[in-house]
Amino acid sequence: MHARFVVNGETREAAIAPHKTLLEVLREDLALTGTKHGCELGECGMCTVLLDGEPVLSCLVLAIACMDRDITTVEGLAAGPTLNPLQRAFAELGAAQCGYCTPAMLLTAQALLERTPHPTREDMREALSGTLCRCTGYLKIFEAIELAASGGTGADA
Ligand code: FES
Ligand code: FES
Repeated sequence: MHARFVVNGETREAAIAPHKTLLEVLREDLALTGTKHGCELGECGMCTVLLDGEPVLSCLVLAIACMDRDITTVEGLAAGPTLNPLQRAFAELGAAQCGYCTPAMLLTAQALLERTPHPTREDMREALSGTLCRCTGYLKIFEAIELAASGGTGADA
């Protein structure tokens, strides 16, 4: 079927199989491979994108249910070459190691900061509880969110 999506503020069109998940359409039909493929069972959080500003697991959502809704992927966080404050903070503090969870972490943290501009560690733990990271132990991620929230990131990377 012919489908139209609004992704990162742009209208994108594709011929898709109606049974495809949002994760599959983003990666396979729209070439937005920043969204990562993990368990496809709703357990790891790697596939998180924002749908109308809220984090969703794109492996569990049918793409056709997302037509005419506002989809944000990690590719939409930077404005051209200018990283957003969370991206700068993650880079400055080493909050991305292998990087596989980073797109999901950034988007989940972005939604958190929009709801709660100065989150506590407990707010962060709760927001990120569904997004698994095997590398960082989460401390650097929490520190990066705090740095971004404080406006303390330096020049664009
Ligand atoms: S890929 Fe693991 S929750 Fe979606
Ligand atoms: S940085 Fe490797 S899984 Fe999080």
